[in-house]
Amino acid sequence: MRAKYLGRSDGALTLVLRKLGSLTLDERKKIGPVAQALKEKLEQLCDAQETQLLGLGGSVVDATLPSLAPETGHLHPVTLVRWQLEDLFTRMGFVIVDGPEVESEWYNFDALNMPSWHPARDMQDTFYTEVQSSKFKVQSDEVAAQRLVLRTQTSPVQIRAMEKYGVPLRCIVPGRVYRNEATDARHENTFWQIEGLMIDRDISLAHLISISKIFLRDLLGERIGIRVRPGYFPFTEPSIEMDITCQLCADQRRSSSRFAGPKSQTRLPKPVTGNGNIHGDKDAQFMYGVFSKDGYGGQVNADVKCPVCKGMGWLEFMGAGLMHPFVLKSGGVDPKKYSGFAFGFGLTRLAMMKYGIGDIRMMMSGNLRFLEQF
Ligand code: PHE
Repeated sequence: MRAKYLGRSDGALTLVLRKLGSLTLDERKKIGPVAQALKEKLEQLCDAQETQLLGLGGSVVDATLPSLAPETGHLHPVTLVRWQLEDLFTRMGFVIVDGPEVESEWYNFDALNMPSWHPARDMQDTFYTEVQSSKFKVQSDEVAAQRLVLRTQTSPVQIRAMEKYGVPLRCIVPGRVYRNEATDARHENTFWQIEGLMIDRDISLAHLISISKIFLRDLLGERIGIRVRPGYFPFTEPSIEMDITCQLCADQRRSSSRFAGPKSQTRLPKPVTGNGNIHGDKDAQFMYGVFSKDGYGGQVNADVKCPVCKGMGWLEFMGAGLMHPFVLKSGGVDPKKYSGFAFGFGLTRLAMMKYGIGDIRMMMSGNLRFLEQF
């Protein structure tokens, strides 16, 4: 309406007003005031209409614009990795077992061959509740063994699974665990682990290592390197620790001039045995194999500035071993007939590896700008 009647160049009323000058005085006196009044009236009406359309939000609603896409939810990186592993392990005949996050000291420690005086408990300081539970059996008369704690590991479910399902048994236990930790880029007080168990006749470390290779390659790709070192856990005997090649700086390492391994990834290098040269780790001389398509020997590479592995190329990945006879007995299994392997690793840390996340604190931050990337 404004353009039609009041438009600067060809508005109907504008043209009338422009013509006034060419009229006689009489005509001007007659038409002039009427046209002027009409112009003011029209402007008022247009202004009022415009204010109404602009509404409270101050912008014109354009009903022809496409609507905003609704925000859809998505899975947390830890959940994505957990589901992928659950899928893979289920296909290999493992069942998925759950356990309580508030656990009795018996299941979390004592039943796993870690009585209250055991030094290994120091490494898993946790949050103790004031609740005493008489529901759980205790190893000795100690009252302490009846306290409830936030579980420090998924290992207590080893015992629960044996009690519930008996043997033979193949299961994995994904779950949240808690430790009284000072937090930094690699440590959190709350994180996820996955426990794995395979109990049957004649289960050996060979089963453990091949199952580990299968799931690590499925998750992180064929190029992942695996290193096995001796370790210590009260609930496994022998115990091992498994390291994987750092995925955050893998490309950087490979393109470095100090990189000693093969640049092409076509052949698997021979396992290195008796290598005593692993970043000053005295255990390394006992290391019995490097299963790495990376061809990476484990020396610190000064060219690589990696915040996670500090240029070492290796990351501690999981603890494992053959189940201690005491543990089998705690779960009601005869260690003379059955053997089993157990492993436990940090699922949160694995998700960090997979997605190249440098700081574990991001995982719990609830920061949408971080989470929306997955
Ligand atoms: N529970 C151990 C930990 O949290 C890992 C582990 C699990 C080691 C099973 C051996 C066997 O450190």
